[in-house]
Amino acid sequence: MALIAVTKERRAEETRVAATPESVKKLIAAGFSVIVESGAGLTASFADADYVAAGAQLVPNAAEAIQKADILFKVRAPVEAEIAALKPGTLVVALLNPHQDVAVVQALADKGALAFAMEFIPRITRAQVMDALSSQANLAGYRAVIEAAEAYGRAMPMMMTAAGTIAAAKVFIMGVGVAGLQAIATARRLGAVVTATDVRPATKEQVESLGAKFLAVEDDEFRNAQTAGGYAKPMSADYQAKQAELVSTHISKQDIVITTALIPGRPAPRLVSAAQVASMKAGSIIVDLAVEQGGNVEGVKLGETTVTDNGVHILGTPNLPGRIAADASSLYARNLLAFAGLLLTKEGALAPDLEDEILKAALLTRDGQIVHPALSA
Ligand code: NAI
Repeated sequence: MALIAVTKERRAEETRVAATPESVKKLIAAGFSVIVESGAGLTASFADADYVAAGAQLVPNAAEAIQKADILFKVRAPVEAEIAALKPGTLVVALLNPHQDVAVVQALADKGALAFAMEFIPRITRAQVMDALSSQANLAGYRAVIEAAEAYGRAMPMMMTAAGTIAAAKVFIMGVGVAGLQAIATARRLGAVVTATDVRPATKEQVESLGAKFLAVEDDEFRNAQTAGGYAKPMSADYQAKQAELVSTHISKQDIVITTALIPGRPAPRLVSAAQVASMKAGSIIVDLAVEQGGNVEGVKLGETTVTDNGVHILGTPNLPGRIAADASSLYARNLLAFAGLLLTKEGALAPDLEDEILKAALLTRDGQIVHPALSA
């Protein structure tokens, strides 16, 4: 029977876990056996006893789990000692951050692993249930608003009280993908007045349907900014200058700005300049969700809150899904459960069809080589 190992996350500030008691139970029902490192779920509020009750075998350390495994499920890439413990041919499935962590991908190739990057699951209907970028970005968007609300020294909704009226917070969301849409919805639920911008025309209607106002330079380049895969293209310097001019006056009047703009495989686009930050009122909050890809905001620092001379707080909090670890783990574990469904034959033998569209798109390493076209440039 194919054995899946789940170990504690060892990358900095990672609180999520790749399997929950619920997903373990379903993996076992699907024909796998599961081995879990003791304490793997603790930071996401899942106890060892619940994994055991779900049918997992518990072992005291990662090496013991990994040595026996045919498949290793992780949230982030395994660390060196975990890679060292892999049997050749083991399937490793994780958010491997392949564009940035090429050294880890190479180490997995050298070890003879079949490494699959959850980021590369194609956005086709059949794979929606495995789409970890979406499941995590949605929670990141939610959490960004919660972090902003906490840091903000004022209320989000308008309040009319006997002592006077409090104005609603003005929230501006830059980048309206999965995270941005959830940030809009969350800020609206808290009573903020919300505006949003994106370079993909399809987002205009989505923004308006959530009760927010759309703001963008709507020229020919904008009308062609969406790739066939649904992602944004890098915009020209000319467009970015026009975009900056349009949002400049707007930003100066905002209380909270949340930036989420990403372009796959590239550094995050710079959307907010130091001058724009300097135009904001004291006590305004900026949350930069793209901080791990270089940031959308000039002056953001990874893992720090920067307070500017004019009193603006720029939050560079990494891994926002990790701040809602129980739910983020549950959704990620379900993404992996669906992925696992591609790996077994009807008889329950481990025989992944590497020509399958989904597996092929996510496969990074095979037979000691990096095989993904996006990485072998
Ligand atoms: P992402 O995380 O790659 O980027 C976030 C947002 O930043 C995107 O909306 C992008 O257009 C925007 N952006 C990039 N450059 C910008 C700039 N200079 N100024 C302003 N905004 C900028 O995007 P995510 O969340 O992965 O979504 C990308 C698309 O994929 C969306 O259309 C989404 O609806 C679609 N999608 C499709 C799925 C499916 O069919 N299974 C599942 C999930 C998302």
